[in-house]
Formats: sequence, structure tokens, C-alpha cells
Amino acid sequence: MSFPASAKSRVKMSVLSAALDVLLTADPRSKAACARRMHSTWRETKVIGSFPPSLPDQPARPEKPDLVSPMDVPRRRLGSPAGRGALLHAVAHIELNAIDLAADMIARFTLHPSLHEDDRDRFVSDWASVCDDEARHFILLADRLAELGVCYGDHPAHNGLWQAAQSTRDNFPARVAIAPLVLEARGLDVTPGMIKRLTGAGDKTSADILQIIYNEEISHVATGARWFKYLAAQQTDTPESYFHQLVRNHFKGQIKSPFNETARTLAGLSRAYYEPLSVN
Ligand SMILES: [Fe+2]
Ligand SMILES: [Fe+2]
Repeated sequence: MSFPASAKSRVKMSVLSAALDVLLTADPRSKAACARRMHSTWRETKVIGSFPPSLPDQPARPEKPDLVSPMDVPRRRLGSPAGRGALLHAVAHIELNAIDLAADMIARFTLHPSLHEDDRDRFVSDWASVCDDEARHFILLADRLAELGVCYGDHPAHNGLWQAAQSTRDNFPARVAIAPLVLEARGLDVTPGMIKRLTGAGDKTSADILQIIYNEEISHVATGARWFKYLAAQQTDTPESYFHQLVRNHFKGQIKSPFNETARTLAGLSRAYYEPLSVN
């Protein structure tokens, strides 16, 4: 018996194999396209699939940018197009990492025993939607960089985000605590300042792009907070002290104030989560 071509591709395209495709695609725009396709296919088919045979420790990446220590990434002055290009390049790099983090969340944890079978669809829908947003963010920035005469890969970047992911690859609650609730929440703290600086430098086009990203990142942190509370409900500790314990054990960086309390509260992250971890 033969199937029509579209039926065949639907059978093949489980979300777990689509997430693996995202991780294994090196070219940044192709990775973003894979992420967007994963989201639309998932919405259409709702096929989870089975565990990929193995997940990469490092997602595929282009040869450039060079990855350096965060200390070696130069500070950007925004008075010139080159300075603004360097800042937007750094944000584009974060968005590319964020595509991989969302795809890895799906590929690695959808079949985790802490996730009840009835909740898997909701989990995948949430992270496929985040992955789609991150892909759009990357493309918006890559297009804007092109207008400024910069190509993604032209500046060095750091690998701190993926290192944080690696240290939680075997711990589902720690991954949810750290990727959205420490790293993405940090984005909520610093992005309004970047928008202000870009606006002050007369670059409203770039400021508007960061504003779109900022608004959507609040919902990513909210997604993380919802799933963290779901996982924390399976523990005897309070969600807040469980969060502190996971961050202290799995995150090597510092939790820095000042915090954007308004955005964090909107995302469902009260001060009791992050203030006790703050270094200053
Ligand atoms: Fe993003
Ligand atoms: Fe995000």
C-alpha cells in the first residue's frame, strides 16, 4: 500500500526528530528555518516520536564566530554603526543559542518521567513556540546586521550560554531553573537599557527590534516559570528553596542585580526566587 507524499512526510516528521534537525544544522539561517518548520509541523501533526538515538553535546554551529571567554568580548560604544553592529551581533549570538536551548529542551526532556504523559503535548507546544520566537528574533537581527554592513560571524562571541546548558544536560529541573529563569530572565534586566542606549544613539530601527524581542522574552520566562513550578510541585521543598538549591549546584555564574522586577513579576518570578541568590 502506498501513502501520498504528504502523509509520508508527516509520519516521518516527529517533533523529536525535528528538534534533533535543529541541533544538527550548522548554518544559522538554516537552523532558524528548521526551528520555524518544527513549530508549524508540530501544530499540524502533533507527533512526538521516540527518543533520538543520541543528542549532540554541542549543537552544530558555523565556523565563525570564534568563541572566546566572556572577558575577551570587547565593550561596544554605540555612537557608530560599527558599535551598534557589535552590540546587535552579541544579541544575535544569544538568540542563536536560544534556538538550540529550546530545541534541546524538547529533544532531551519531552519523554522525561517527571513529565506526565498527558502533559507532553502542552510541554512541546510551549517550547516549540519559544523556539519559533527565537528563530524569528535571530532573523530580525541578522537582517538588521546586514543593513549595518555586518554578517553574523564577523565578531567574536562567547559560549557561556551553551556551557550552562551542558552542566544541566542530565537534570531536567535544573535546566528549567537555569536556561529560562536565570539566563533569559537576565535578558529582561538588561534589554531595556540597550533599547534606551540605541534610541539615544538615534537608531530607532534597532531599538524597535529589541523591543519586540523584549516583549516576547517575558513570555519565555513565564513559560519557564510555569514548568519549573510543575516540576517543583513533585518535591517536598518550596519551589523557591528548590530553585535556590538547583541554581547553587548547577550555575557557576553570578546572579546580578539590579533586577527588572516589573518584567520578572509579570513572568511569574517573584523576588523570593532570585533575591536570595543575588551577589550585590
Ligand atoms: Fe529571543
Ligand atoms: Fe527567549
